[in-house]
Amino acid sequence: MKITVIGTGYVGLVSGVCFAEFGFDVICVDNNASKILDLQKGNVPICEPGLDKLILKNAQAKRLAFTTNIEKSVEDADIIFIAVGTPSKSDGSADLSYVYQSIDEVAPFMNKDAVLVIKSTVPVGTTRSIRKCLLDKGVVVDVAFNPEFLREGVAIEDFMHPDRVILGVESDKAKRILSQVYRPLYVFNTPIMFTSLETAELSKYASNAFLAMKIAFINEIADLCESCDADVNEVATAMGLDKRIGDQFLQAGPGYGGSCFPKDTSALKDFADKLGVNLSLVNETIKSNNSRRIKMVEKILAACNNDVKGKNISVLGVTFKANTDDMRDSPSIHIINDLLQRGANIKIYDPSFSNQAMQIFSGIEFSNNAYDNCNEADVVIILTDWSEFRALSLRELNKRVKNPLLVDLRNIYSLTEVNASGFNYCSVGRIFKKLKFTEGTITS
Ligand code: NAD
Ligand code: UGA
Repeated sequence: MKITVIGTGYVGLVSGVCFAEFGFDVICVDNNASKILDLQKGNVPICEPGLDKLILKNAQAKRLAFTTNIEKSVEDADIIFIAVGTPSKSDGSADLSYVYQSIDEVAPFMNKDAVLVIKSTVPVGTTRSIRKCLLDKGVVVDVAFNPEFLREGVAIEDFMHPDRVILGVESDKAKRILSQVYRPLYVFNTPIMFTSLETAELSKYASNAFLAMKIAFINEIADLCESCDADVNEVATAMGLDKRIGDQFLQAGPGYGGSCFPKDTSALKDFADKLGVNLSLVNETIKSNNSRRIKMVEKILAACNNDVKGKNISVLGVTFKANTDDMRDSPSIHIINDLLQRGANIKIYDPSFSNQAMQIFSGIEFSNNAYDNCNEADVVIILTDWSEFRALSLRELNKRVKNPLLVDLRNIYSLTEVNASGFNYCSVGRIFKKLKFTEGTITS
């Protein structure tokens, strides 16, 4: 089985590498020549744990290659996956120009026995319109839709052990070839569901919107906790023990970011609006998440006596989540830019040393480690829940800072441990009551 993947980004690269790990011959194609050159040299252009080792292993086994040459990579392929980006347009709808451009480029070279599979997240009806577009060009091939559910940072584990595989197909051939591609997952009894094209397309948007709504919900409950002295972490744990609710995606924080939830909720709203269907819960989720970033700035200001002008702010973590270098729609962008406008002096440490972050915050100093970033800080703000921040010694930090104030927008510390460190502390959905610390005990 020869697999070609068009688009070598967070999804295309991981998918291609994992298909090679399944044992198939894979060619990954991108029109970004410098990305392909990097990959050919063994340099991985994104931060995704474990990806470098799998690339090396499968490239050495000669099952994995990288190219910019569409013609050569497509003509012998049994199956072609399209995994190019579908970002938001300014009106909130999905920008499908990369998808259609890649179809135009692939179409002249596809062999008629191949199956074309859309993996990019696309609005309902897109796969069918791609098939029509190919027919209009005289290209008769089977077209399918296979949504991807991986999360950045744990992408390999998610791809190799998914909760389910959804396959929108309209022919026995597409069903047969896609069954072969995912056969390695049969050993784990992974549910594999065949649906219509439209059902598969909507399943992807509905899943992302539901997860986004769960996050927006717990963030609003966090606000309520702050007004009635409840603890949102404990409320989330209590809720999550109910199997009908589930314990995941109930972590309160600065609001969801990333390249997917913001754009996919907005695209879902857009095409529902166009069909005259009011998705009021999705609409409220979008509004709630947008206002979250403003609320987080207000929280920081309140902790700093409403004045950050001239203050040294140490920001720990700027990527939209841990274990990635991805900055797309990260809450940190809004929060840091707002604080800069108010005259704050910002210093950043992010464990990914993200090039994207360094470009976005080009005028800001980046440190090599968390401790140095906190030297002489008036306030330390945690924006991303990187594991290494959980292991920081707060006592050591306290020696470095000018003023022991910690704003933790990811709730990574327990209130008791912060109390023992001497920091003033402000988190999300939990009220911090500073207690007196005396030799080994804490008293009020
Ligand atoms: P990305 O921007 O990281 O990668 C897209 C790649 O496609 C880029 O490298 C770009 O150069 C390349 N490209 C664009 N046009 C091309 C063309 N004509 N020929 C060859 N290459 C081309 O995007 P991504 O994050 O990997 O997302 C891809 C799709 O997968 C999107 O629809 C997204 O919604 C969906 N998705 C993403 C994730 C995720 O975690 N990032 C998870 C599930 C689904
Ligand atoms: C998300 C989905 O989880 C994937 O299933 C999906 O494939 C992907 O979008 C996509 O379609 O592209 P991802 O964006 O990589 O994956 O990251 P998540 O782990 O879902 O986190 C998204 C955002 O929500 C992050 O900003 C994260 O910090 C935030 N989040 C997540 C919370 O604030 N609380 C939580 O409990 C979970």
